[in-house]
Amino acid sequence: MHISKITAVFFSPCGGTEKVLDAFLSALPLPAEKIDLTPFSSSVQSRTFGTEELVIFAAPVYAGRIVPLAMQRFAALRAAHTPAVCLAVYGNRAYEDALLELTDLAKQNGFVPFAAAAALAQHSIMRRVAAGRPDTNDVAKLVDFAKQVWRKVAQAPSAAVLSVPAVPGNHPYKDFKAVGFVPAASAACIRCGRCAAHCPSGAIDLACPEKTDKTRCIFCMGCVSVCPVQARSANKALLWAAEKAFALKFSTRQEPEFFL
Ligand SMILES: Cc1cc2nc3c(=O)[nH]c(=O)nc-3n(C[C@H](O)[C@H](O)[C@H](O)COP(=O)(O)O)c2cc1C
Repeated sequence: MHISKITAVFFSPCGGTEKVLDAFLSALPLPAEKIDLTPFSSSVQSRTFGTEELVIFAAPVYAGRIVPLAMQRFAALRAAHTPAVCLAVYGNRAYEDALLELTDLAKQNGFVPFAAAAALAQHSIMRRVAAGRPDTNDVAKLVDFAKQVWRKVAQAPSAAVLSVPAVPGNHPYKDFKAVGFVPAASAACIRCGRCAAHCPSGAIDLACPEKTDKTRCIFCMGCVSVCPVQARSANKALLWAAEKAFALKFSTRQEPEFFL
């Protein structure tokens, strides 16, 4: 089938998901329109994609699920049998029901998720886990996958004949219980406002960026990742202990998995 447009919609507070997405997109023959649904201010307009388009969904795994804010923002996108690729990006622990959840959403909204992958990026809380990923091996695998994806869609006479692969995961999905590390700013904060502008959930008030609204924070660490003076952090003692235990358990290298 003829694909005239590629659109990539993604959610990536710390940039790991976007790196995976960029590696995938680099091997497709058309440039993609990238829609970043991470910022709180991102206007999620409902949009319906057509049959000659290819849409890529990319989002991080939180607690074995797709981060709920990403699911809410993706839910505004509809399709009329548009071929889609789902990428769930995780930090070397496990992706559990996340990829299934993402492909289910795509199907429910009229997409044909004929390809999916669980790929790796640095753990955004436990920074020493999966550090440096996606690395050159990951990128090579993502590039190879993207070429296979393109061949499959180009050779199919229509989206209706594209088969949707089974992906790991269970129904009902596991309960969503994300870890509660809420970052705050130290006295080093220069009140530049980057954290507030970057926060996906609107949990940081520009007028008072030292504080984080615990009821809104999704623990994504996006504010920590964009702070130009490293003033933001979750409780360092708690984080240090948790990271040590986590790294002992989950440092064995996981490899990306592809479903086509
Ligand atoms: C609150 C939270 C929960 C997470 N849960 C998991 C998890 O269940 N399994 C896992 O392997 N990684 C987990 N991670 C790590 C992220 O999936 C991983 O770092 C991802 O690359 C983050 O995407 P980003 O860099 O685009 O923000 C979690 C990260 C956060 C912030």
